[in-house]
Amino acid sequence: VRLRPLQRADRAPLEALLRETQAFREDEVLVALELIDAGLAPDGGGYLFLVAERCGVPVGYACWGLTPLTDGVYDLYWIAVDPSLHGQGIGKRLLTEVEARALAAGGRWVIIETGGTAAYGATRRFYESAHYAELARIPDFYRVGDDKLVYARRLDRP
Ligand SMILES: CC(C)(COP(=O)(O)OP(=O)(O)OC[C@H]1O[C@@H](n2cnc3c(N)ncnc32)[C@H](O)[C@@H]1OP(=O)(O)O)[C@@H](O)C(=O)NCCC(=O)NCCS
Repeated sequence: VRLRPLQRADRAPLEALLRETQAFREDEVLVALELIDAGLAPDGGGYLFLVAERCGVPVGYACWGLTPLTDGVYDLYWIAVDPSLHGQGIGKRLLTEVEARALAAGGRWVIIETGGTAAYGATRRFYESAHYAELARIPDFYRVGDDKLVYARRLDRP
């Protein structure tokens, strides 16, 4: 698996991958695609991408960017890995590289917003294993019974 920039030809396979994870509702898939389209535009829209490629096929990606009005906070907007390849370290490689790039650009924090339902339990374990802490929780945010959790990792302090 190698990490490389986003290419136009990635859009369809990444759309299929997002659906195959069964982690995202249709409206969420559409927002993920909006970010991919913004990232493919000439100015990139402020969205940064890394694609994990295996044997010439995209098998995962991360999308992040500098949070507006901050001078060193990075939001991880999206991360997804082909479900047939979960648990093989691809997500961790993507996240580690995002953190390295954010730190190199002067980043202090990486922030991840995620859902609080059981469906996101595995995703929360993934963030916790990567040393993210739950810093905030807004009850009934996405839906009644679906809280917003803010996970964060400080980059510039051990
Ligand atoms: C979350 C996701 C990106 C993780 O990718 P992955 O390639 O399977 O994760 P990795 O193999 O790199 O795992 C890294 C660590 O997370 C832990 N982890 C990953 N999935 C886990 C699970 N289901 N249960 C418990 N721990 C898990 C691993 O044990 C590993 O821990 P370690 O570093 O201590 O060994 C992937 O499961 C995914 O695409 N999920 C669906 C999409 C999603 O929920 N995205 C996030 C919301 S935007």
